[in-house]
Amino acid sequence: MKLAFIGLGVMGYHMAGHLQNAKHKVTVYNRTAAKADAWVSAHHGRAAPSPREAVKGAKIVFCCVGDDRDLCSVLLGPDGAFAGMEKDAVLVDNTTASALIARELAAEGEKQGIHFMDAPVSGGEAGAISGTLSVMCGGQGDVFARAKPVIDVFARAVTLMGPVGSGQLTKMANQTCIAGLLQGLSEAIHFSLKAGLDANLVLDVISKGAAQSWQMDNRGETMVNDEFEFGFAVDWMRKDLNIVLAEAERSGASMPVTALVDQFYKDVQSMGGGRWDTSSLIRRLTKNG
Ligand SMILES: NC(=O)c1ccc[n+]([C@@H]2O[C@H](COP(=O)([O-])OP(=O)(O)OC[C@H]3O[C@@H](n4cnc5c(N)ncnc54)[C@H](OP(=O)(O)O)[C@@H]3O)[C@@H](O)[C@H]2O)c1
Repeated sequence: MKLAFIGLGVMGYHMAGHLQNAKHKVTVYNRTAAKADAWVSAHHGRAAPSPREAVKGAKIVFCCVGDDRDLCSVLLGPDGAFAGMEKDAVLVDNTTASALIARELAAEGEKQGIHFMDAPVSGGEAGAISGTLSVMCGGQGDVFARAKPVIDVFARAVTLMGPVGSGQLTKMANQTCIAGLLQGLSEAIHFSLKAGLDANLVLDVISKGAAQSWQMDNRGETMVNDEFEFGFAVDWMRKDLNIVLAEAERSGASMPVTALVDQFYKDVQSMGGGRWDTSSLIRRLTKNG
């Protein structure tokens, strides 16, 4: 199938690669052209100088940029993807963004007969590299049915959650779980160290019981070792938590711990940790010894 992919960042670079490796014909666009050139050399696909040109003839267009504002800049306007997409083509948006922008872009696309599906992902860079992401989708059933077999090549789970915006709302629940959990894990490790326990041994024992989590298995040891130069950046997490808290205010959901952890992440940013992995929450606790 003729496809386009916009945004070759940490995630998009590998997702687009899986699509090309699955024998689809992928044309990519990236704002920084050097990344698109590197992708073309590695995957033998094609690159275009603007989103509008990249999407020409594509049946499905994927997009994975930073936030709401980035989405508008690659999808709208004279050089944006919508300006070049064919009637009845599908835009699958893998960006983590607000449900509001998903609904706005779906309405904008509809004016031109373009179908929009929000499809944020979970699983991190490792999941993007191995093609095992979890993809939470918001859109119409027939649009989902067309896109799912294509998305499957970089995912281990692709689920339709409801109408446009539902994928983003589900991703907000995902980020809420991670935020609260990481603060708990940080406190448990900090507590163990202060109590004079071998923190790695503590994690080894409790990870075999009810306290086990993906964060404990994949981040526990690096938290004990005070290593954070990798993974999912604190700046991105704050972007996501701000989306969560704004949505909670609209719906009336009570999110006291999420609001607190968001402020803790602000502390980490002011410690210079904007690009540190989200598990760096523990540094707030250990900074004074
Ligand atoms: N990294 C993770 O572990 C992870 C996991 C799950 C979900 N996500 C979400 O997935 C999305 C992408 O994350 P990422 O880690 O791949 O981010 P990233 O490495 O920072 O890449 C962002 C991509 O968006 C492009 N971009 C940003 N602003 C743009 C603009 N105004 N116009 C055109 N292109 C623009 C960037 O182009 P340039 O190359 O020119 O900068 C780059 O290709 C985010 O919404 C993030 O929250 C990330």
